[in-house]
Amino acid sequence: MSQLEARLKETAERINTALDGLLPREQGPEGRLLGAIRYSALSGGKRLRPFFTLEAGRIFDADEGSLLRTACAIECVHTYSLIHDDLPCMDDDDLRRGRPTLHRQYDEATALLAGDALLTFAFELLADPATHSDPQMRCKLIAGLAKAAGAVGMVAGQAADMEGAEIGSDLIAVTRMNRQKTGALISFAVEAGATIGCASEAEKTALSRYAHDVGLAFQMVDDLLDAEGVIRDTGKAVGKDKDRGKVNFVTVLGTEATRERVGMLATQAKNHLAIFGMRARVLLDAVDFIVSRRY
Ligand code: IPE
Ligand code: IPE
Ligand code: MG
Ligand code: MG
Ligand code: MG
Repeated sequence: MSQLEARLKETAERINTALDGLLPREQGPEGRLLGAIRYSALSGGKRLRPFFTLEAGRIFDADEGSLLRTACAIECVHTYSLIHDDLPCMDDDDLRRGRPTLHRQYDEATALLAGDALLTFAFELLADPATHSDPQMRCKLIAGLAKAAGAVGMVAGQAADMEGAEIGSDLIAVTRMNRQKTGALISFAVEAGATIGCASEAEKTALSRYAHDVGLAFQMVDDLLDAEGVIRDTGKAVGKDKDRGKVNFVTVLGTEATRERVGMLATQAKNHLAIFGMRARVLLDAVDFIVSRRY
């Protein structure tokens, strides 16, 4: 295991423990719904978005407690997006993070509602004074997450993904879709760390450019893994995008050209971190993990 992977694993464990403590217990009349929420939210996953928030914030010695709660909120939104993405009306998938998808394990209505609950819980978490003592900071985080997740961010990207045929092989449209469906939340994850850390405008710009390139490369690798990966590693079905008529970088450009672009984005992403020197070492190494990952 590389140093970066060990750090990622450590972050994942911290997020799992924190989420376990924050999410309501599986009891009382809502027990079944709460069990479904916990099934998905505590089911593994790389916890990459929380990792970005924590590591971006650490560049500025930001408060760990604020970073951790914000990271958990972002992961709740991400988990909700996966639950809904897997539903029969969307990608209709049976396997997620190596286990049956939520609608398979429970039922469709419960999966829909568990997703709804995780999305709203994220904002409950951010609004709580325990996340940050300054109400203005909390509002900034709430507004940022709402925008990244909503109708001009992730949801817009998911809508475009569902209308694949209309995008056709237009590379600009595919890029835009990827930016929205995956890039927007990854960008916010990095931005949140910088915001909590009170980074300067120049530092925020550098990190935002880094996140832009990393987010795009991340979804390209996800598309490559769908085309070439194995279930044992990914914990989710592979080879389905093409069969379903999905449009993505691999279906438009092929694997070789997609990989080339991933390489270019990786170099660009690293260059954006130059102003931080060694302080951004972990974010720098994260680029290599993202582009070479098999899961
Ligand atoms: C999968 O995200 C969905 C995409 C946005 C590509 P991840 O690959 O981060 O999934 P987990 O959280 O590790 O399961
Ligand atoms: C999902 O993209 C993106 C979001 C959930 C926002 P994909 O549909 O490619 O993700 P996987 O491959 O199912 O994880
Ligand atoms: Mg999808
Ligand atoms: Mg999917
Ligand atoms: Mg995919």
